[in-house]
Amino acid sequence: MRRTRDWFEPARFGLFVHWGPWARAGWEASWPLVGGVVTLPLGQDIPADEYHANAGGWQPDPAAPEAWATAAAAAGMRYAVLTTRHHDGYALWPSRHGAHGVAHTAPGVDIVRTFAEACRRHGLKIGLYYSLPDWHHPDYPAFTDAQRPYVFGGYPSPSADGWQRYMEYVRGQITELLSDYGTIDMIWFDGAWERSADMWDVDALERLIRGLQPCILINDRLPGHGNFATPEQFVPPEPPAEPWETCLTMNRSWGYNSSDTDYKLPATLVHTLSEVAGRGGNLLLNIGPDGDGRIPPPQQARMSEFARWMARHAEAIIGTSAGLKPWQFAGPTTLKGNTLYCHLLMQPVAPVSVRGVPVQHLKSVRVLGHDAALPFEIRIPVMDELMHIDGSGEVLIDLPEALRDPVATVLVLEFDCDPARSGSAAPSQETAA
Ligand code: GLC
Repeated sequence: MRRTRDWFEPARFGLFVHWGPWARAGWEASWPLVGGVVTLPLGQDIPADEYHANAGGWQPDPAAPEAWATAAAAAGMRYAVLTTRHHDGYALWPSRHGAHGVAHTAPGVDIVRTFAEACRRHGLKIGLYYSLPDWHHPDYPAFTDAQRPYVFGGYPSPSADGWQRYMEYVRGQITELLSDYGTIDMIWFDGAWERSADMWDVDALERLIRGLQPCILINDRLPGHGNFATPEQFVPPEPPAEPWETCLTMNRSWGYNSSDTDYKLPATLVHTLSEVAGRGGNLLLNIGPDGDGRIPPPQQARMSEFARWMARHAEAIIGTSAGLKPWQFAGPTTLKGNTLYCHLLMQPVAPVSVRGVPVQHLKSVRVLGHDAALPFEIRIPVMDELMHIDGSGEVLIDLPEALRDPVATVLVLEFDCDPARSGSAAPSQETAA
């Protein structure tokens, strides 16, 4: 059985948390240190000394993760992933390796610990993000203003000794993260593009990780070793063959970027969750708490909209698998056993139609969250009817105005066979005769 079937695929919805010293200044995560990147157009450009000096005054509040986990659980999320160390190298736990992080600027604080505890309290699986590059570490080597602007592919080479020390540091930190906090369900790497898989010594890293946490999932950013793909800021039109998770920001920044007010509508985000689930993937939705660890109001509002919608519709997301083909319904669909969930992302102007399903096995139709059975009409080819062929046909459903959700209504179609069964079932002896 593939590892992701255990909890990851059924979970469908998780919280990404980008938190680090940048939040204190209201900057995007790490990228301002290297002069920004085109894909994060609202990020800043901050000289290296000034960038790192900001970390010195930051006292992260160990209580912050409790509010994130509360919001995540209320929104129907099943796991959470925290940036334990982003590209700027600041460790959110008191690492005994390296010289940058809470151990040096906020003694006594351990955000990874309070994060893991909060996740457990709220029934969330625990994911730890770890950037392979560290733009602060002297052996990496550290990014300097002379290298600005950042060029993809143009990184200064470390010395051979330096690289050995650097990888010792990476292994040391990973060992701490996967030894000191109980069961960790996922490690989420990032930044591998800066060096080759050989330099990252990926096979040895994987052995180390699985030796410490045998059941852990690893994302595909540890080249060659991922349990799942990680399309970024994008829902793949054709779902990848392997398990996958789209990571997505609510605005255009990962970190708490006070200059970024360009938010996606709450409805758009809910629709994205339906689209992702309908293609058999997960959504890892990001928040960037401010320097005090508070979820910024526009992000909290979006979390609350998920809480409202998921209170009624979680059943159509969690534990489902990818649904029908795109032509069968004008919107995403998800499946659970003999139940088909049709996610209406637009207000219907005519009866809603579901095509190519085994209509003679359709037992009932209702709106998710309401008990009343809705009347439905079925259409099948005339010859199928005359010959008693158990084929597929079309269902038409009138959706009363009063039952519509303002953001996305889900129709529940209960069959007594697999709703995705294609074509006709073999005719019985009696009809064949
Ligand atoms: C990119 C960015 C990084 C962000 C990550 C999330 O790799 O470099 O800032 O944390 O995407 O997927």
